[in-house]
Amino acid sequence: MNPQHPKKTTDFLIIGSGISGLSFALKAAELGSVTIVTKKAKIDTATNLAQGGIAAVLSGEDSFDLHIQDTLQAGAGLCNEEVVRLVVEKGPERIRELIELGVSFTSDETNPSELDLGREGGHSARRIAHAKDLTGKEIESSLLKRVAENPAISILEDHLAVDLLIGSKAGLAVSPHDRCLGAFVLDRNDNSISPYLAKITVLCSGGTGKVYLYTTNPDIATGDGIAMAYRAGAKVANLEFVQFHPTCLYHPQVKNFLISEAVRGEGGRLINEKGEAFMKKYDPRGDLATRDLVARAIDSELKASGGDCVFLDISHKPADFIKNRFPNIYRTCLSYSIDITREPIPVVPAAHYMCGGVLTDIMGRSSIDNLYAFGETACTGLHGGNRLASNSLLEAVVFAHQAFLSCQEVWPSLSKKPFSDVPPWSSGKAERIEECVLISHNWDQIRRLMWNYVGIVRSQKRLLLVQKKLRLILQEVLEHYHDFLLTPDLIELRNIAILSDLIVRCALTRKESRGLHYTLDFPAPDNTHWLKNTVL
Ligand code: SIN
Repeated sequence: MNPQHPKKTTDFLIIGSGISGLSFALKAAELGSVTIVTKKAKIDTATNLAQGGIAAVLSGEDSFDLHIQDTLQAGAGLCNEEVVRLVVEKGPERIRELIELGVSFTSDETNPSELDLGREGGHSARRIAHAKDLTGKEIESSLLKRVAENPAISILEDHLAVDLLIGSKAGLAVSPHDRCLGAFVLDRNDNSISPYLAKITVLCSGGTGKVYLYTTNPDIATGDGIAMAYRAGAKVANLEFVQFHPTCLYHPQVKNFLISEAVRGEGGRLINEKGEAFMKKYDPRGDLATRDLVARAIDSELKASGGDCVFLDISHKPADFIKNRFPNIYRTCLSYSIDITREPIPVVPAAHYMCGGVLTDIMGRSSIDNLYAFGETACTGLHGGNRLASNSLLEAVVFAHQAFLSCQEVWPSLSKKPFSDVPPWSSGKAERIEECVLISHNWDQIRRLMWNYVGIVRSQKRLLLVQKKLRLILQEVLEHYHDFLLTPDLIELRNIAILSDLIVRCALTRKESRGLHYTLDFPAPDNTHWLKNTVL
């Protein structure tokens, strides 16, 4: 039996400790007690790795309309315009709030009262606030400091949410009246599982990059929030739109080091093995085309040349500028003997961002009462078929605020309701897993299959083939799930197996190419039938 501890109660249960979870926690603490569960150390988040920055209209040369247009154009017809307008218009206010919370963005050298604004693909103006190339780290550490000072917030590290508690019949099919009552949470220290009862539960557990063999994401990105929400009966959408970042460092010893798009924003050029700059062949915007196009162009260059990588060259810029603007990228590459001030950087595309997720409304509410989702876990309607670079940190802070406004409204009545009772976790006849290879083998197989069959360029044939293979693995994983006592690895394996199956289902459903979903069988967009979300 997995050991059990008594029920815990908290007004707000937040699953995930990135920018979304922490921003919401600081606001929700004004209403009640907040517990953040995070499955490793609190800093192990995708936010912490974000290099580029946070997009918002912050200069006189930019406008809300331009940022809205760029977001809609990147999103390939699938963005929700109301959400885009909201996020763009609320952006500057939320950035000011981050600054008040202690985030120190890089200032303009010639005019230190203004921020230095970067540029990235698909943006028609400079609008990316950044902290050199360590923006995520700066935001994460500042928010963690504020959270640590707040007595209403507790953070539980090494705690992994297993499943949501739904209605009075946890674990059973969901009816429209069901509501979320909290979650079962596993403590990694002793693998004990306890019910955490909450009035409001928030999924901010990040993305799904670990579903793929190569990813820029941290190890935590196993799609836990989306998989849990789906199992609980919530609607999930647009999971076929997996964004591949065009430029991940290609080096045998490096797992997931991103070379920020800001490098291209500052003049970096993609070149092939022969040293030819190739992007203009694919799009008139060249190296600053949107990510879907750049990743596809690289894929096509690699297929034509048979090479392992392409190169990103910024060495024509002054060395001092490069070292000052990209200190982290410069230092990291140098530690692998690549001097980016003198030579091109070998790069390949890697899975980077899930544009779909738990379907929410404009307040961050999922289709289950008292369950919210935002950040990469959610599909709010902002990104559509392809996320505009650096719009995600912005989405996180705007939706944390929207969700807070929504909670504030319901709190007078919700706060008076007692916590519901739920049955304890039952392990049935499950036994301890002795052969960990059963888990590691399936992990590896899933990630390789997804990389080889559900990558940047897809086909119906490959999708159907991989669906069969994944279903067999999923069946085996679900059997392990019932036969063995739960461990973090088994929980994550179940989540990536479910997510892979959902991504393939969405990809097979959409019989057209749009944004990040490109299939050889339907190479053009079909606006008559497919100008809509893929909802499961
Ligand atoms: C980057 O720095 O290229 C990543 C930014 C993002 O994914 O928005």
